[in-house]
Amino acid sequence: MRIQSYATYEEMSKAAARYMAAQLLLKPDSVIGLATGSTPIGMYKELIKMNEAGEIDFSDVVTVNLDEYKGLSADHPQSYRYFMNENLFDHVNVFADNTYLPDGEQVDDAKVCKDYDDIIETVGPIDVQLLGIGHNGHIGFNEPADAFTTGTQCITLDERTLQANARFFDGDMTKVPTKAFTMGIGTIMKAKKILLVVTGKEKTEILDKAMNGPVNPAVPASILQLHPDVMVIVDDAALGK
Ligand code: GLP
Repeated sequence: MRIQSYATYEEMSKAAARYMAAQLLLKPDSVIGLATGSTPIGMYKELIKMNEAGEIDFSDVVTVNLDEYKGLSADHPQSYRYFMNENLFDHVNVFADNTYLPDGEQVDDAKVCKDYDDIIETVGPIDVQLLGIGHNGHIGFNEPADAFTTGTQCITLDERTLQANARFFDGDMTKVPTKAFTMGIGTIMKAKKILLVVTGKEKTEILDKAMNGPVNPAVPASILQLHPDVMVIVDDAALGK
């Protein structure tokens, strides 16, 4: 794992955007795995600016997102499809048909998972997978467990995750969907490169466990220690500086 740290969130966001921009320059038809959460928003803003300035082109890019809440429609303001449209897709020249997320509206969980695995198999391999990290070490929505997941899963979210994500649901934990579809850890690990972005002192402890602790499904992000090409871009606060 390589780690780069920056004094501020703005600087780390710019660095993460430069990493993605370099990928798109090297391989304009890249398959990019994308993430939601607050952390990548600054990076998305920078990518939008670069796209507007003609510095990067998304016209041949395919995106596959990590996860989606079960039961939320694409036009629900808290769905991850809505988030991605608002924070990136509507502002860059990516083709909507080339952007994929699990189908949160489907009732048949097994079908959603199989369909998403088939999509990733067809468009993949993923060139760069962007990740954030949850307070409990989750990546995507792969929560702490007894074993690492392989393909797409329907996951019951941990209480800690519901608490953290309540801020997007009027601060009301009971409004957060209790289940979500997530790309599996096996799929994440098959990405050629991984970019992990982390901000803020509330992530210091879990980042340290993920990077330096034992590789253990109780800290799902710890598996990243076994991937050959992980770039971790953080702000100083996340390092506990
Ligand atoms: C959510 C997402 C994750 C994300 C995590 C951290 O649970 N499913 O993919 O990494 O939140 O989010 P944040 O960056 O807001 O701390």
